[in-house]
Amino acid sequence: MILDKLVGLIGWPVSHSVSPHMHNRAFQALGLSRWVYVPIPVACDPQDRIKEAVLGLRALGFLGANVTVPHKEAVVPYVDKLSETAQAIGAVNTIAIDEAGRLVGHNTDGQGFIDDLAAHGITVHDLRVMILGAGGSARAITYALLANGCKRVVILNRTIAKADEIAALFGGVFPQATIETGPLDSELVRADPRCDLVVNTTSVGLSSRELQMPWDERIPFVANQTVYDLVYNPRETPLLRFAARSGARAISGLGMLIHQGAAAFEIWTGQKAPIDVMRKAAEDALVSLHDI
Ligand code: ATR
Repeated sequence: MILDKLVGLIGWPVSHSVSPHMHNRAFQALGLSRWVYVPIPVACDPQDRIKEAVLGLRALGFLGANVTVPHKEAVVPYVDKLSETAQAIGAVNTIAIDEAGRLVGHNTDGQGFIDDLAAHGITVHDLRVMILGAGGSARAITYALLANGCKRVVILNRTIAKADEIAALFGGVFPQATIETGPLDSELVRADPRCDLVVNTTSVGLSSRELQMPWDERIPFVANQTVYDLVYNPRETPLLRFAARSGARAISGLGMLIHQGAAAFEIWTGQKAPIDVMRKAAEDALVSLHDI
């Protein structure tokens, strides 16, 4: 078998990622037998490792790569060109290497989020959205919401200056939108608990041993709210459990992972991604990772 169409995942750590399972199963399903997706663990130290890794993709004949935590922002200076979205967000989660050998940085995280909402029958146009957290993921999600016509966003973060930074960055690009900010334990929540959609982008709840959630449990959600947690492992985070108990709709971020992967797959292969195959592969991988 000839395996000469290489893509991979740059991150640290990457050994527990479900992306290789998802993409390799998708390649198989479409008969793309020369394609293979490999984990590429790249440590943060020494600092020039990330530069070597990104430029090394070209030298090693890769066609592309995904980039994950903690390198999404660090790779930006080393690509030759950024898509409009990656430029706006200041972070790259997908690199494609074109025929001329140029490295093009994309960001499919926000699109993955919007596509997953659409798969759940949710359009963002008229929604009032509360975003918990103001890191790289919050930046991608806020941009995607605003670019898809959402006009009311509230960003709450432990470090309020980072929420203000996102509001200042995108306020100018989307002047028709209202972007409010506040601390995570904000009175905003108490005063206005009825945001249609609440999105957790913080890492709180990421560990299955951690019982915390980024939400004051004295403030219940209500039936017509949707709570979306970017954390997808565990599938049911403390926040999602609390939301479901309050009667709200609870959605795990696994769908966003699948859709951002599907968008990357389409950039690399030029073919429509087999979403159902990727979903099944991701679910299977999560189950087997729990057995390790
Ligand atoms: P990502 O790229 O996944 O968004 P990140 O940029 O490191 O990761 O952002 C992590 C987010 O989780 C931040 O909003 C962070 O809050 P701070 O900006 O105050 O650091 C938030 N976060 C992490 N641990 C947290 C905790 N224990 N409580 C509240 N927020 C937390």
